[in-house]
Amino acid sequence: MGPLIGWFGRGKRVSAGDSDLKENIPNHIAIIMDGNGRWATRRGLPRIAGHRAGMNKVREAIRACDELGVQYLTLYAFSTENWKRPQDEVDYLMRLPEEFFRTEINELLKRGVQVRFVGDVTQLPTYTRETVVNTQRLTEGNTGMVVTFALNYGGRAEVIHAIHHYADQVKAGLATWEDLSEENFGRLLSTFPVPDPDLVIRTSGERRLSNFLIWQSVYSELWFTEVLWPDFTRTTLHEAIRDYQRRKRRFGGLK
Ligand code: IPE
Ligand code: IPE
Ligand code: MG
Repeated sequence: MGPLIGWFGRGKRVSAGDSDLKENIPNHIAIIMDGNGRWATRRGLPRIAGHRAGMNKVREAIRACDELGVQYLTLYAFSTENWKRPQDEVDYLMRLPEEFFRTEINELLKRGVQVRFVGDVTQLPTYTRETVVNTQRLTEGNTGMVVTFALNYGGRAEVIHAIHHYADQVKAGLATWEDLSEENFGRLLSTFPVPDPDLVIRTSGERRLSNFLIWQSVYSELWFTEVLWPDFTRTTLHEAIRDYQRRKRRFGGLK
């Protein structure tokens, strides 16, 4: 990193070479962290080595976003479809949150990061669920960047869950079907009150959402890179943001 020349955003430092990154920073960045397996395979390593390398990039992404003054960061860590993978790979992935938050909790607290989780935690192994609950509890009073981990998350499952929730409210006489709107439906999604992502990044060259934030991403800017997640750096992030800054977001209007 170059010399520090000033304070921008929410009082964060941005180095001289990044001075164009001080305005129009996406409020919410969501990342589909893909390519761990291919990264490992290309090195003749087992896929789990890629997941380990990927975990270390989560730290880097959090730091880089926090330094730019990004308010919300959402990370796709495990989808509702990822249970289809071999059991040993699933087991390894389920152990990673425990290790990650054990080593990172001090820095997260120092940064004032609030950690949230979306996805069905009830299906997670006990040790993973305990990490989720403890991390949320330890960071819930923090007022800095909000980092959401999508763990056993699927956009379709989230929408169905919200419909059930709304139906329960109707049954209890607390709501009516006529009142159902985009706004009050959005309030029932697990991501609420986090705003919709401005920028969705997917690594590894795949160009699809794979069931990620299907309701919330309708007007997100999408950015794809061939970079595999374990090779992701702050330079990759800056490249994505610079591209985002050149886009014209119209939301269906004319300007
Ligand atoms: C992303 O990397 C991590 C998870 C989905 C858990 P992959 O494991 O999907 O890596 P590739 O796509 O097989 O390379
Ligand atoms: C999406 O990646 C899920 C995560 C990054 C956690 P996948 O590797 O599971 O997606 P597909 O199977 O290529 O669509
Ligand atoms: Mg993949």
